[in-house]
Amino acid sequence: MAEKVVLAYSGGLDTSVAIRWIAENYHMDVIALMVDVGSERDLPAIQQKALKVGAVKSLVVDARELFVKHFVFPALKADALYEGQYPLATALARPLIVKLMVDAANEEGAAAVAHGCTGKGNDQVRFDVSVFALAPHLKIIAPAREWGMTREEEIAYAQKHDIPVSVGSAYSIDVNLWGRSIECGILEDPWAEPPEEVFAWTRAPQDAPDKPSYVEIGFERGIPVSLNAKNLDSVSLIQQLNELAGEHGVGRIDHVENRLVGIKSREVYEAPAATVLLIAHKALEAMTLSREQLRFKEKVALEYADLIYNGLWFTALHQDLAAYVESSQRHVTGTVRVKLCKGKATVVGRKSPKSLYSFGLATYDKGDEFDQSASVGFIHIWGLPVKTQARVQGVEQPESEDGGRRRERKEGG
Ligand code: ARG
Repeated sequence: MAEKVVLAYSGGLDTSVAIRWIAENYHMDVIALMVDVGSERDLPAIQQKALKVGAVKSLVVDARELFVKHFVFPALKADALYEGQYPLATALARPLIVKLMVDAANEEGAAAVAHGCTGKGNDQVRFDVSVFALAPHLKIIAPAREWGMTREEEIAYAQKHDIPVSVGSAYSIDVNLWGRSIECGILEDPWAEPPEEVFAWTRAPQDAPDKPSYVEIGFERGIPVSLNAKNLDSVSLIQQLNELAGEHGVGRIDHVENRLVGIKSREVYEAPAATVLLIAHKALEAMTLSREQLRFKEKVALEYADLIYNGLWFTALHQDLAAYVESSQRHVTGTVRVKLCKGKATVVGRKSPKSLYSFGLATYDKGDEFDQSASVGFIHIWGLPVKTQARVQGVEQPESEDGGRRRERKEGG
C-alpha cells in the first residue's frame, strides 16, 4: 500500500499540479486538505477539483472561527503590525493550516505533509517550522520548491495531465478574513502605482462616498465583541467591518517589506477590518493602560509581529509573550468610535468603565482638581540633574543672533 501525504490544497494551479507531481515522483497517495480561513472561494468545486486531478481523498475544514479566535484576536491584542504596515493576514493563517494538516495526517496515518510554497518566500518557513514544532516525525514535501519548473513548463505539465489552467491572473493573491495579499505582475515594479484591478474589497478612496460613516466598536478585554452596539460573533464582526470600511476605501496598504529569506518584496494588502480594529484597539489601550504599560507593550508588539512573520508561532517565546499580552488586556474594555471617510479611518471617540482619563485632572475649566502649585516642587526635583549637568558641562545651543556659538559655559559660570 502506498504511503499517504496530506497536502494543503488551495485549488490553484500550483497545488493542483502538486497533487499529480507528488503521485508521480513520490508514489504516494495524496489527501488534499482545503482549510477555509475565509478565502471566499467555491469550496465544493475546489473539493471536487482535487479528486479530479488525482487526490485519493479531499477534505474541507471550515476553520474561520478557529482562525479568528486563536490567531487573529491574539495578534490584535498584541497590536501586531509587521514593519508598521502589514497586519499579517497570510502569516497568521499558516500555523493554523499546519495544525489542521498535522491533525489530518495523524487521523489518516499519513507519513508526510506537503505544501505549495516556493523556495523564495516566507510561507515555506512558516509551514516547515510549524511542522517541526508540532510533528517533527512527518516528512515535508514542497513540490514547487523541488520541481524546478518555470511557469511555462508548469502550465505545459498541467495541460499534459488534464489539470485545468484558468486564464490566470497576473497576480499571486492570498485571501483570508484578516486581509488580502497581492503580489507579482506589475507590482514587482515598486515605482508602479497599484492598478485598480488588484483591489477587490475596497473602493478607490476618490470614489468613496463624500459622507463619512461612523462605526462604534465594543471591546471586552481587548477583544472586539460588538459593532454599532450590536453583539456579533467574531467571524461576522470582521466580515461586516471589512464591508463597511472597504466601502469607504479604508485599508489599502502598499508595502515594500523585508522577507525573512533576505529579499525585499513589494506587496499590496487590503485589510479594512484589520486597519480599523488595530487603531480602535490602540485607542482603547491609550485610555486604559498606564504610560509604562503602553511603552513596554510597544516593544512587545514589535517582537510579536516579527515572530508571527518569521514563522515562530509555535514557540516558547510566543507562549511567554502571549501570556504578557493577555494579562495586559484585563481592563481593555470599552467602546471606540471611528470615522470612515475617503480612505481614512480616524478614531474620534473612546469611552471605558476602566478609563484612566480623569476629567477633573485634565480640565482647564471649572472643576479642576489638579494642584498646580505642587508642580513647582515636582519640576524642581525633575530638573535637578539637568541643571547640574548644564552647569558643569554646558549645553549645545543653536547659533545666537550675533552669529557666535555659545557651546560651553565655564565651569560654575
Ligand atoms: N508577504 C506576505 C507574507 O509574507 C504575503 C505572502 C503571500 N502573498 C501572496 N500574494 N500570495 O506574509
